[in-house]
Amino acid sequence: MTTVPSTPTSDGVGGAVPAGLPDVTLLAQLAGEFFAALPSGSHDARLPFGAPPQPPQTELALANRAPALAPAPARPAAAPDEAVDAATGTGRGANPVYGVPEAYAAALPRVDSPEPPRGPQAPSSPYYFLGEASAYPSTAPSALPSQKDASPDVPEDRVTARSFGLPGDAELRALLAGLGDGKREQAPASSSSLASAPAFYFLAPSDTEAAPAIGQSPRPAFDVQAVRRDFPILQERVNGRPLIWFDNAATTHKPQAVIDRLAYFYQHENSNIHRAAHELAARATDAYEGARNKVARFLGAAQTEEIIFVRGTTEGINLIAKTWGAQNVGEGDEIIVSHLEHHANIVPWQQLAAAKGAKIKVIPVDDSGQLRLDEYRKLLTSRTKLVSVTQVSNALGTVVPVKEIVAEAHRFGAVAVVDGAQSVSHMRVNVQDIDADFFVFSGHKIFGPTGIGVVYGKRDILEAMPPWQGGGNMIADVTFEKTVYHGAPTRFEAGTGNIADAVGLGAALDYVERIGLENIARYEHDLLVYATRGLLTVPGLTLIGTAQDKASVLSFVLEGYRPEEVGKALNEEGIAVRSGHHCAQPILRRFGQEATVRPSLAFYNTCEEVDTLVAVLKRLAGNTGRKAS
Ligand code: ALA
Repeated sequence: MTTVPSTPTSDGVGGAVPAGLPDVTLLAQLAGEFFAALPSGSHDARLPFGAPPQPPQTELALANRAPALAPAPARPAAAPDEAVDAATGTGRGANPVYGVPEAYAAALPRVDSPEPPRGPQAPSSPYYFLGEASAYPSTAPSALPSQKDASPDVPEDRVTARSFGLPGDAELRALLAGLGDGKREQAPASSSSLASAPAFYFLAPSDTEAAPAIGQSPRPAFDVQAVRRDFPILQERVNGRPLIWFDNAATTHKPQAVIDRLAYFYQHENSNIHRAAHELAARATDAYEGARNKVARFLGAAQTEEIIFVRGTTEGINLIAKTWGAQNVGEGDEIIVSHLEHHANIVPWQQLAAAKGAKIKVIPVDDSGQLRLDEYRKLLTSRTKLVSVTQVSNALGTVVPVKEIVAEAHRFGAVAVVDGAQSVSHMRVNVQDIDADFFVFSGHKIFGPTGIGVVYGKRDILEAMPPWQGGGNMIADVTFEKTVYHGAPTRFEAGTGNIADAVGLGAALDYVERIGLENIARYEHDLLVYATRGLLTVPGLTLIGTAQDKASVLSFVLEGYRPEEVGKALNEEGIAVRSGHHCAQPILRRFGQEATVRPSLAFYNTCEEVDTLVAVLKRLAGNTGRKAS
């Protein structure tokens, strides 16, 4: 019986070839030459592996998008609990009229995109990438609106809606203006039909400018029904009703492309990575490193090596606290966070501060829920070692001007961390433009799998950081006397990581790039304005978080009901929202609340779903559905 030779690995595990057995290095070289000669012809001679097969090329519904959308009809009554055909798109998701109608989009003025920041080309990588042959080509690089240019007459300390620079910002500002003190706008009696309220969330064309006809939109239509067909779970029914998923800030659903990619990995590529000279190890390594390359491009990182895979945002912040923090924060030093933060961006810093004798300082918010930049500047001192802020608040939806915050931190020599968990699925992020030292996000919040997330760190900072976990994969050489670590990113990826889900995240990023972050941001912004308007028509409803610059989230309380009661009542209608403290107790308490109801939007949600939410809330407010106490 033949003995399998011990295989040299990146761990250095393996050792000398026993007498009589073949030299695996020679075998690997021969195998490399063999695979290189195969018709695929795309083998990288640096690796002694074969070129893997192509991953599935999922046909996106978007590729067959319907032409212009028709006006929205009333939502059908609750349908019976029958099977829904995801392939043909029957059922609620198939109705081609639930989106923001193109007629409105067509009436919006065209906004010329400013030059995108000069980012890097595809980052270099030492690996051969299966992912480079992805079935899902990205859209053209996006334009990042210049925040400085957007509102030149706004005082420096005023934080305003500048992040998107999209049409509709003015409407959202007008709507939210004055709500910070708890007052509600005198909203019109009905919110339900878009057709009945077009002037509100789309700018009216000027007298001299006729609205473009349907199908002649100056910018591409966003076909929400085509998007919905890509998400099989949206065909689910809950309590006899079609599922309405408004819990996107907690997690997002997965398009078929991601589901297929995961299945393909386990069917054709499954192996550990970086560790063996066999075919599947090559495929898995290529797929995993290809995903890292996609993340680097998605974030605008300068180099692939700046991307570390972790379980999610929480683990990412803990990694930074326990490596950079442990190395650089000492007694009497100061760490600044904001009042908006998720517990994941508070607790690791508290733990670090307690261990080191450092101090936590908190940037306050104004009554709308926006950060006070003027107060932030007063907190910065020569002892400030680190500033860590969210880009979008998970509890209120506030969009934070992170670029300004990072720049101020740098003026004091502090390192800046940006929590992108709630931002990456809603707006274009470019870490080099923000100039963040670290940026973290979770895959599951951007249509990817759970259990996979990302830490971006500037290369020079990462290379100077110690590892935080020890074990296989992260080492170059181990003896009992001494261990030599790899450089970034593998130094921070001890053990077998979440290989398949990293690959799935790559597929999710391909998917959103295919649709285009700018299209997503624009559609969601219109939907947010529409939903804000609708909620304000519900008697007894108070919005919590009324910053003029918001994304996705609509936190509220309803008079006479506890938030969980509202959540349960909505669930009975098939509507999923989060009710509770959203892992952000400090900011809710700032607004006198222990809990809120939190619908949160994604680009597969529709105005019609918003109408259903508003109708149920109105019924509750009118006591129709109130349970006996
Ligand atoms: N951070 C997630 C949320 O906001 C879980 O719901």
